[in-house]
Amino acid sequence: MLIVVILIAAVAAGSPARPADMREQEAVPVFAVPGEEEVAPYTPGNRNAGADPFRSTDMWEAFGGEAGVSRIVDAFVARNTSDARIAEIFRGYGLVRLRRTLKEQFCYILGGPCDYSGRDMKTAHEHMGLQHADMNALVENLQAAMTEEGVPFSAQNKFLSKLAPMRKDVIER
Ligand code: HEM
Repeated sequence: MLIVVILIAAVAAGSPARPADMREQEAVPVFAVPGEEEVAPYTPGNRNAGADPFRSTDMWEAFGGEAGVSRIVDAFVARNTSDARIAEIFRGYGLVRLRRTLKEQFCYILGGPCDYSGRDMKTAHEHMGLQHADMNALVENLQAAMTEEGVPFSAQNKFLSKLAPMRKDVIER
């Protein structure tokens, strides 16, 4: 009986009901997926994604939909965590959560069927002391991951132009 209760609780924690508009919520701890690292409570909402989504699904399709974005984010995170220029920055942070929230963020911005439940870019990167060179290395790794997946360069550049304004929230010096 106890095992059944634990199982039900685990399944419920893994698939929280998504409120229609998370922007109206008060700050609450976010439901973590099993095996995911916790972060301090914050107010979730799509505005935290840092960019408005593309209005059509063209970009979502150019990125290969859910399977394509999932592979791109996995490859992107793997490149960042094994890149001698920036790997150290990722040490000690939870990669399970990072992969999930990046997939949500990319999906949301690309016009896919997702909401972004992560933190805003300023909060997520606070106190990391990130520099322009770190950002450039990260963008190179994203470009490599997108190219590997066969995303056309025109679509890559349109996506990068959505991310570019986030530099000011991510870079500290
Ligand atoms: C436009 C550029 C960037 C975007 C869109 C972005 C996106 C994200 C997202 C969605 C998260 C997860 C937020 C959450 O957990 O709620 C995150 C966390 C993180 N990012 Fe970035 N990021 C960018 C730049 C960078 C750069 C340049 C670095 C370092 C080279 C970096 C390192 C990290 C690390 C280490 C975390 C984990 C923080 C934690 O778990 O507390 N990010 N980023």
